[in-house]
Amino acid sequence: MKGLILSGGKGTRLRPLTHSLPKQLVSVANKPIIYYVVENLLEAGIEDIGVIIAPETGEEIKRSLLEGGFQRVKFTFILQEEPLGLAHAVKTASRFLGDEDFVMYLGDNLIGSGIKDFVEEFRRTAPSALILLKEVENPHLFGVAELGEGGRILRLVEKPRVPPSNLALVGVYLFSPEIHRAIDRIKPSWRGELEITDAIQELINMGLEVRAHILQRWWLDTGKKDDMLEANRVVLDQLQETILLGDVDENSSIKGRVVVEEGARIIGSKIRGPAVIGKNTVVENSFIGPYTSIGKGCSIRNSCVEYSVILPETEILDVERMEESLVGRRASIRKGSEVNRALKVMIGDDSSLEI
Ligand code: G1P
Repeated sequence: MKGLILSGGKGTRLRPLTHSLPKQLVSVANKPIIYYVVENLLEAGIEDIGVIIAPETGEEIKRSLLEGGFQRVKFTFILQEEPLGLAHAVKTASRFLGDEDFVMYLGDNLIGSGIKDFVEEFRRTAPSALILLKEVENPHLFGVAELGEGGRILRLVEKPRVPPSNLALVGVYLFSPEIHRAIDRIKPSWRGELEITDAIQELINMGLEVRAHILQRWWLDTGKKDDMLEANRVVLDQLQETILLGDVDENSSIKGRVVVEEGARIIGSKIRGPAVIGKNTVVENSFIGPYTSIGKGCSIRNSCVEYSVILPETEILDVERMEESLVGRRASIRKGSEVNRALKVMIGDDSSLEI
């Protein structure tokens, strides 16, 4: 069985961050999202992994994965010139996939249970496709399934205006090679994409077996800031213990489960877990609150940061209170002087600032 990770897409809902950083490389608990995807595949025994990349972000994704220490994985990078849909991505990968079964995993999806059990279920029951579903509050933003008696799938629709149920298609799919035949039979949707949802519907139309499994544990599609913060919360919540590899001075206090990575220095500060402080980061005279990940090489001084994700090499200085924030790499946030408290900014396209 092979793996196919999709890491194209423009990440428009995470701009401006994604102008310079592919969304799959944004970190949750200081680890790029796509690393969790590779770990899930490895845990299910899948080591032959194709990665669909886009021209704009492909090189960075490739570099990050090759530097990720995944010795057992054989990566094949496959360029999709244009984002013409998930089924188009499968088509682009057809040489790599050959006539083997495969797991297709969207590179910005995180699921709490991993995928081992689903791979086993697929092997045992050998359907044409096994899809994962999850109850959501906003089904119109996803592919949606309508189930009949005994959990049989009646119909699948992509982003319906009037959803037939609240069961969204999770971005993890298990396919037999029959999916290629189904993809050859479908036409682009109204948004001009070859939809994988339509291809799975086509399998059903062809009289082939499509099984559905309803996820009980969490699933997050990390396309937007709030989803990203929620993913960070959920992953940090799974920290089991405190690990202090860096220096914590005697004027600091650490409460709850906290990871202080190598070379980090905590000086006269309070860290309340769950939280992660990245490699070589300095936290001085500050409070880092629960559900916060500070990337490597940051400098946080005289500030309070809670429920946030701060990406590497960012500086936060004299900020009384920052929360629910997602801050990109190499950013600088500091309070103006007491005499002139006017806000001074340099803000890129698509930024959002709440003051
Ligand atoms: C894609 C699929 C959709 C699925 C979703 C899961 O949507 O088309 O069916 O529910 O992934 O993340 P997109 O991310 O392209 O909007």
